[in-house]
Amino acid sequence: MTTITSYEDYLKEYKKSIDNPEQFWGEQAENFVWKKKWTSILNWDFEKPEIKWFEGGKLNITDNCLDKHLDILAEKTAIKWIANDPKEGSISLSYKKLHTQVCKFSNVLKNNGVVKGDRVCLYMPMVPELAIAVLACARIGAIHSVVFAGFSAKSLADRINDAGCKVLITADGGYRGNKIINLKNIADQAMLDSCSIKKCIVLKRTKQKVVIKKNRDVWWDNEMENVNENCNSESMNSEDPLFILYTSGSTGKPKGIQHSIAGYMVYTHFSFKNVFQYKDGDIYWCTADIGWITGHSYIIYGPLLCGATTIMFEGVPTYPDAGRLWEIVEKHKINIFYTAPTAIRSLEAKGDDFVKKYNLSSLKVLGTVGEPINKDAWEWYYTKVGKENAPIVDTWWQTETGGIMISNLAGVTPMKPTFATLPLPGILPCIMDDQNNEITKNSIEGKLCIKFPWPSMARTIYGDHKRFKETYFSAFKNKYFTGDGCYRDENGFYRITGRVDDVLIVSGHNLGTAEIESAIDQHPNVCETAIVGYPHSIKGNGIYAYVILNSDIKKENKKQLKLELNELVVKEVGPIAKVDKIQFVVGLPKTRSGKIMRRILRKIAEGDTHKLGDTSTLLDPKIIDEIKKNAEYAY
Ligand code: WTA
Repeated sequence: MTTITSYEDYLKEYKKSIDNPEQFWGEQAENFVWKKKWTSILNWDFEKPEIKWFEGGKLNITDNCLDKHLDILAEKTAIKWIANDPKEGSISLSYKKLHTQVCKFSNVLKNNGVVKGDRVCLYMPMVPELAIAVLACARIGAIHSVVFAGFSAKSLADRINDAGCKVLITADGGYRGNKIINLKNIADQAMLDSCSIKKCIVLKRTKQKVVIKKNRDVWWDNEMENVNENCNSESMNSEDPLFILYTSGSTGKPKGIQHSIAGYMVYTHFSFKNVFQYKDGDIYWCTADIGWITGHSYIIYGPLLCGATTIMFEGVPTYPDAGRLWEIVEKHKINIFYTAPTAIRSLEAKGDDFVKKYNLSSLKVLGTVGEPINKDAWEWYYTKVGKENAPIVDTWWQTETGGIMISNLAGVTPMKPTFATLPLPGILPCIMDDQNNEITKNSIEGKLCIKFPWPSMARTIYGDHKRFKETYFSAFKNKYFTGDGCYRDENGFYRITGRVDDVLIVSGHNLGTAEIESAIDQHPNVCETAIVGYPHSIKGNGIYAYVILNSDIKKENKKQLKLELNELVVKEVGPIAKVDKIQFVVGLPKTRSGKIMRRILRKIAEGDTHKLGDTSTLLDPKIIDEIKKNAEYAY
């Protein structure tokens, strides 16, 4: 595996990867265990779109995450799990132990009827069994679809149904700070609407009472009791799907982003090692949830492929207090720490005392992901957490890209606050103007596209290749469109400015405006809704709803209505999508073709009512004055 150790080295490897990508990635792929070597490295056509890496190859990713390490690293800790409650402590799983657990659970899956190609849904808390279940799916060639345990029953059912999952793995409940999430209850509700589920495997975590449905529900522990500890890894084609992970899009229906095995494996390993400059023996902690892509690529696959010790944390940054993350860094001597700007901002807001209390001298590298990081949060992270000794890697990437695309390499390439900086080897970004032309100059802003395939890019949207093409490959000919806006400075450093479509990044989570709108629209007194984002000091973006009612209600009832609308949002999408502000309006600014002008609504939500731009194409420009006038009455 190429390891980049200097800026010159980076420039050299980058050039090599662009001049001859097949040779570059072929060399990287030599570092893995293959059951049969590939016959061709890359075949691609962005028109179709069709992307194939390492075709003809046969492999199993778990041979590379687990078996490969058993000679030398058998006793090394693979996963160190830290409980939500500090009194419960931590559990270390060595590579050998993890391997055994994965093999056993692979056999459990088989006993419950799962065969290669089946989809398995995981709706679980952050416990080691989640990682075990993910890897067991990969081992037998089943496609995992992890659904974040904060999603509602309706969201879970939609995702199960879309992928036609055969088995659901969940837990009785999950701990998050001082809350208990009744996962099995939610799963039960979801399964009422999901007839594809034949079996539900339930892990005991909170030991709360749950309903067990005969012939469908089985307990994890019982199933694990009498299974064999050996399970050969299934021989998979390079391009067989590894997993589906849902992400929000511009329309209401979430997209099942599908990744394939070999390319994802090569790229997550390569990017993990180089971006974080991982060295043998480093203790690495990514605070993301495995329900998101960051958890897939950089809690499970990337670190395990590298033979690293990866921390899995069940809790939240503010429980029992805002010093929790730093307490863990001190206690477990974390060397590499990767988190989201929202977490940094929320901890910064609690004051410096929490961070000062702990010895953070083990930290060598800090990382951020998921949303733009503002200068103030960056400075705080750099000085107060890293004591100006640990470089920050600002890693830009997406569920669809599978791995980090634009980022500095820790301590090796230059960092610049609020800039993701330079592309990784093999990544060819470009910036497009509004006339769909590529801008080659520097010091410009536009829409971010990628011009050439990379190994870990998504291959399709499960069951909807047409939507895959329309969403990512149609806006710009022969380019992958990221949906992000971007600025490139005079040195060619990239700074991601935020989404340019109808996706909102709230606390680092992607939410489709349409999903939230359709939840609110279900209220009997709601006629129409428009959702936009507005700057929020902690969450990055807050959610602002403009709501037209069927019949006006008294002012004193509006607060109550806000509660009711948020109950609907929680039920339909999940608590992460709760609306921060609601403004009741008599109309929405629409173009003659009926499209809501969100640009104007965004400006008003930001409190910027002066420079609204061109409103001449609106059907009824007067509506704007009314909305502006009442903006101060948002609830
Ligand atoms: C945003 C998360 C600025 C961006 C890995 C992207 C970022 C979306 C950064 C993908 C960053 C991610 N700076 N913005 N370093 N990283 N984003 O699919 O808008 O959950 O398109 O993947 O997050 O979010 P997703």
